[in-house]
Amino acid sequence: MDTAEAIETEEAEETGKPRLHPPEPGAEFNLVESVICRRRSVRFYLQKQVPEYLVRRVLEAGRFAPSAGNAQPWKYIVLQDRAMMAEMEADVVRVCRLLTRFAYYMVPGSEHKEWRAKLLMRLSPNNFHPIPFTAMKLIAEGKLGVWHKAPTVIVLLADMRSPGFPVLDIGITGQNMVLAAHSYGLGTCWVSFVKPLAYYRKWRKRLGIRYPYKLVTSIAVGYPRGIPDGEVDRETRAIDWYGEDGSFRTVF
Ligand SMILES: Cc1cc2nc3c(=O)[nH]c(=O)nc-3n(C[C@H](O)[C@H](O)[C@H](O)COP(=O)(O)O)c2cc1C
Repeated sequence: MDTAEAIETEEAEETGKPRLHPPEPGAEFNLVESVICRRRSVRFYLQKQVPEYLVRRVLEAGRFAPSAGNAQPWKYIVLQDRAMMAEMEADVVRVCRLLTRFAYYMVPGSEHKEWRAKLLMRLSPNNFHPIPFTAMKLIAEGKLGVWHKAPTVIVLLADMRSPGFPVLDIGITGQNMVLAAHSYGLGTCWVSFVKPLAYYRKWRKRLGIRYPYKLVTSIAVGYPRGIPDGEVDRETRAIDWYGEDGSFRTVF
């Protein structure tokens, strides 16, 4: 943050004025937008550990997230014990191996999905969508790491007694953390492949995954190694706009 912005922030504190100038049409990203728009999922990390004070700041950003009814339905678990993380990864790989052995998404040499894969997709369409199915195979074959060797992982549990959609609140708290981490020069990657751990009694016990808590996802955190791969495509979806004057338009 440059001095002008710092002064502006102090002034904002006292006067309630906007913390950053509202952008002119077509202006460059401001500080917040650039953190949002330049973040990428990082899958290569330095082995240097993230200091505790920075992890705490990341968690603090998560704690400030909005949630339905201000229920704050999250529980954070920080993992930095490499032996424990390796054991967890091995157990995720085991589940992925089992599932990919049980069901192939594609029957080799054909375009048809195998019946067991179809069944899994029918039973749990989000978990056995073709994309995670493909990633699951890569994890099973050791071609894709679960946490990409990140030195810190934040596991996110949701308190399912909360109002509305607690899992949505978990997404919000998590993204607050991801953006704060990015603003400190840390890399992150959301990792939902933590979920198979809930199949194991030992992990349910160790991580406290029992009602009312549900294991939702995790976030790998560390110092990025190299520059993350190029830009990710984002689609421009049509937006329906009902104007102040009663008009309706579709914009992009
Ligand atoms: C809820 C959620 C779960 C994800 N799970 C994984 C995962 O298990 N492994 C992984 O490498 N990336 C995972 N990702 C990262 C996505 O692949 C990534 O966000 C997407 O491809 C867009 O790329 P970007 O984050 O670089 O913009 C996940 C992302 C989200 C939001």
